[in-house]
Amino acid sequence: MCGIVAYIGERQASPIIMEGLKRLEYRGYDSAGISIYHDKIKTFKKQGKVLELEKIIEGEDLQGTVGFGHTRWATHGPPNDVNAHPHTSNSGDIVLIHNGIIENYASLKAALMDLGYSFTSETDTEVLVNLIEEVQKSRNLTIGEAVRQSLNMVVGAYAIVVIDAKEPDKIIGAKNSSPLVCGVGENELFLASDATPIVKYTDKVIYIKEDEVITLCDDGTYSIVNLENEVTENPIEHIDLKLESIEKAGFEHFMLKEIYQQPITIAESMRGRINAAEGWAKLGGMAEYMNRIKQADRIILTACGTSWHSALIAEYLFEELARIPTEVEYASEFRYRNPIIKTNDFIIALSQSGETADTLAAIKMAKDRGALIYGIVNVVGSSIARETHAGSYIHAGPEIGVASTKAFTSQLTVLSLMAIILGYEKGMISQGYYRQLLTELESIPAKVERILKVDDHIKYIASEIKDANNSLYLGRGYNFPVALEGALKLKEISYIHAEGYPAAEMKHGPIALIDMHMPIVVIATNKRYYDKVVSNIEEVKARKGIIIAVVTEGDTAIKALADFVIEVPTTEDPLSPLLSVIPLQMLAYHIAVMRDCNVDQPRNLAKSVTVE
Ligand code: G6P
Repeated sequence: MCGIVAYIGERQASPIIMEGLKRLEYRGYDSAGISIYHDKIKTFKKQGKVLELEKIIEGEDLQGTVGFGHTRWATHGPPNDVNAHPHTSNSGDIVLIHNGIIENYASLKAALMDLGYSFTSETDTEVLVNLIEEVQKSRNLTIGEAVRQSLNMVVGAYAIVVIDAKEPDKIIGAKNSSPLVCGVGENELFLASDATPIVKYTDKVIYIKEDEVITLCDDGTYSIVNLENEVTENPIEHIDLKLESIEKAGFEHFMLKEIYQQPITIAESMRGRINAAEGWAKLGGMAEYMNRIKQADRIILTACGTSWHSALIAEYLFEELARIPTEVEYASEFRYRNPIIKTNDFIIALSQSGETADTLAAIKMAKDRGALIYGIVNVVGSSIARETHAGSYIHAGPEIGVASTKAFTSQLTVLSLMAIILGYEKGMISQGYYRQLLTELESIPAKVERILKVDDHIKYIASEIKDANNSLYLGRGYNFPVALEGALKLKEISYIHAEGYPAAEMKHGPIALIDMHMPIVVIATNKRYYDKVVSNIEEVKARKGIIIAVVTEGDTAIKALADFVIEVPTTEDPLSPLLSVIPLQMLAYHIAVMRDCNVDQPRNLAKSVTVE
């Protein structure tokens, strides 16, 4: 959803900005641009990846210690050179980069055109930079004040950074809904959409809050006001983000690294939270609110994308283990449909980035209605983490590949822990089963390790089905959401049309699509519905579909029927998604690589969706 990075200080800005843009590219890669001030503002921008921008700035003089860069995920106007950021005001003095959407840009644009302003791009951002210019000129303001007053006229979501050639010793940043973090170094300051471009230089950061405007000065000082011009003081926080964790570490793609990290990341999600031998599990975030959570009449989970699939699995977990009625909501629907929310509802928001606009808005709405809000988030200090009453970080480390993998299994780990703890606290599961589930959960990382060892076999299956145009993923019970997730992984990175279905629903439509060219991935690791899944496989075989079955080690019945089989270790049914999803991630990865797709940056997608 666009990445922003800015620098002001004593070093050359352009290398810091170009490196920062590469780190932020996961947020969008439709175009990239850079502006540097040195006597005047120089701007370069180009459609495509940061690599394309690198080509056009080669040989250019980009000396200067003040500047910023932007990597775009297009919202208004197609991805081309003209619509790329930075955008420049009519006078040429003010440049601006923006992540978000200005909703009332059309009326602002009309008013500015009446005043004689002209526009070269189709973006809402070019409207904003000219609005700032007009406000500055007509009211005779400093750039900081012009930004603040202009933002009072704007409806929408934004993180912006502004440079004015008339006041080149400062950079102005502002935020509403989209993320913006300030890095505080020795006589130097940074602004960025997340901390990844900053960590190389400093571990001290300030999170800019909603409706705040920050002014960074070239002597390393800064000040923050809100849109009402009241001075605010945001604490300096220390971030624990290591540079190694945001690099590929020898893997061909971030996605592959992240798939292979899962034995560690799943273990990290439970570190200090579980001890099966001693028979305890705890989540700090839950402890404080345990009475309220135990008495909740209902759990509502809300999320988007892959996180929504985790939520679906949690519905099975909470209802089975804790016997609490549970609902799952797409955040984008939940926030707008005036849902009935009561004060004894327990709302859980799931988000890898902690910045997804719809999820954030959904929890703000539920919070206003008095519900208890819990966040299960990966990015520490993110907007969703800060908006919730309590929560548990999943501690998966930075996830850079646009297709989510390790965050999904870490979310499931935390959700499983929550359901087990809640089930036991409420007396819904026996001590024996409680211990058994904890023991099983502790053994998951080693079992994932075993699945990763069959990579070559999965690669072979990928080579056999890589040319398909359509595919189906089927599962029952806990493995139905895994089918949805497997299908999502395949379609988002390989562009093969894939649909996930509850296995029994196949008869009500998708069966019409099955022929000898159609690969059907069946997740058949459940103990409970095994025979029923076998019948579904028979139905597919009768229509000559190609069966790829994920089964538990030692399976014989399905092996005899399927064209390809991937074995995973056995586990308790509630924990089975933690294992059955791994081969589906690997299958999607290999197919996408074989089809020459950009695995880490699939077309049209972005990692962090900060617009609705
Ligand atoms: C985007 C990403 C997905 C992610 C979804 C929700 O669509 O491409 O991978 O699952 O957003 O993101 P969140 O950060 O809230 O989990």
